[in-house]
Amino acid sequence: MPSKDAVVGILMGSDSDWPVLQEAQKTLEQFGVASEARVLSAHRAPELVSEYASTAAGRGLKVIIAAAGGAAHLAGVVAAHTTLPVIGVPIESKSLKGLDSLLSTVQMPSGVPVATVAINGAVNAAILAIQCLALSDARLQQALAVHKKTLTDKTLKADRGLHASQNG
Ligand code: RP5
Repeated sequence: MPSKDAVVGILMGSDSDWPVLQEAQKTLEQFGVASEARVLSAHRAPELVSEYASTAAGRGLKVIIAAAGGAAHLAGVVAAHTTLPVIGVPIESKSLKGLDSLLSTVQMPSGVPVATVAINGAVNAAILAIQCLALSDARLQQALAVHKKTLTDKTLKADRGLHASQNG
């Protein structure tokens, strides 16, 4: 639902996308970033999408994550109506495994970008949104540095574990 504190909007074409997008919301929460999640289809509710996107900046949103599957036009239509950065998440589809979603999200015309992450890449969409916010937020810059170190530490631990299992 709309939230007055939200700085990231999480849009999805259907509530069937929510299990994927929940991971974006969880990641934003872990970084202390307030978000709002909405179901707003480019095809089934085009006027609502237009209204949401064109009023988003004025309501305090800084980044929009938009996810859809199949003929995935949501992120592109949102990008057409706002100057905020738009991050597209192609949702895995039943028939084409999300290749359709990926191509229809990423292939935007020159001048109207959608920063597209991997199929079902909701966590990276959240991290990218946080990186945008961190450009003017020292606390988030610090949290991202810790996040990077955690990734490195996990890799080192896995490397040591593999090494130990191979060398008895
Ligand atoms: C897209 O169609 C949605 O984003 C979803 O990924 C897909 C299927 O939607 P439902 O038929 O499950 O509502 O618009």
